[in-house]
Amino acid sequence: TPLYAVFGNPVAHSKSPQIHAGFAEQLRDPVRYDARLVPVDDFHGHWRAFLNEGGRGANVTVPFKQQAATLADQLSERARQAGAVNTLVVTENGEVIGDNTDGAGLLLDLKRLEAPLTGARILVLGAGGAVRGVLEPLLETGPSEIVVANRTVEKATALAALFDAQGRLRGCSLDAIKGTFDLVINATSASLAGALPPLPEMLFNEGALAYDMMYGAVPTVFLQWAQRHDVRCVDGLGMLVGQAAESWYQWRGTRPETTPILEALRADLC
Ligand code: ATR
Repeated sequence: TPLYAVFGNPVAHSKSPQIHAGFAEQLRDPVRYDARLVPVDDFHGHWRAFLNEGGRGANVTVPFKQQAATLADQLSERARQAGAVNTLVVTENGEVIGDNTDGAGLLLDLKRLEAPLTGARILVLGAGGAVRGVLEPLLETGPSEIVVANRTVEKATALAALFDAQGRLRGCSLDAIKGTFDLVINATSASLAGALPPLPEMLFNEGALAYDMMYGAVPTVFLQWAQRHDVRCVDGLGMLVGQAAESWYQWRGTRPETTPILEALRADLC
């Protein structure tokens, strides 16, 4: 059986083994998928050992997403843009490709949800690592405008300047958010601390979607706030399954159906 794994520290909480076991069963394509706890100072050593065992690919999580880029022979364009690698692919001739499937995973989920994209006004809250990799795929859907708003305004404007978006991408501070939006994506880590960035009360258009990249058994503070504004609210569990589906596609060449896997994970969360 082909060998895959997720590398992290910690890694016990990772849902990737469950997700990929689900894909393997659904597609009748048996694989072995391990969770490997790696000491923070020996990612390279563990990766080499994994290759010697015949490992064909891996997911990489905290704190190895930057280090993973240094051991790849080649980076995909989207990994370069994201500045991080969450997926390693071993090719037929033993070459190691560093890829990033987070942006594709978010887009898979937004399309599944039939989220407003083409012609939409999109607000992205945050300008950290989670945002770098999603702007290009979001721009490709043809929104009328994407506003990136961040506590530290310089990070938002720098990110906006990185992409040639024909003026469709703008960075600003949280208190300079103007107008209303069809899609608001929270990519700040504020929800981890149970904090909510200060947001204007009039933020959503009719039929808008509020999306948090974080997820949990209870709605994040951002989604709790959005619920009070009567909009559709979705957390990032589907993005997690989406990025896994895109990794699987890079490894196995087939596309799993995400909905049943997502439903099973959701049931386990509650
Ligand atoms: P990630 O990889 O998850 O994006 P990160 O690179 O550390 O993590 O970025 C965290 C993001 O959350 C940043 O945009 C950060 O804002 P700053 O750039 O100003 O630091 C944002 N963030 C974290 N805590 C926040 C809070 N309490 N209020 C508003 N924004 C917050």
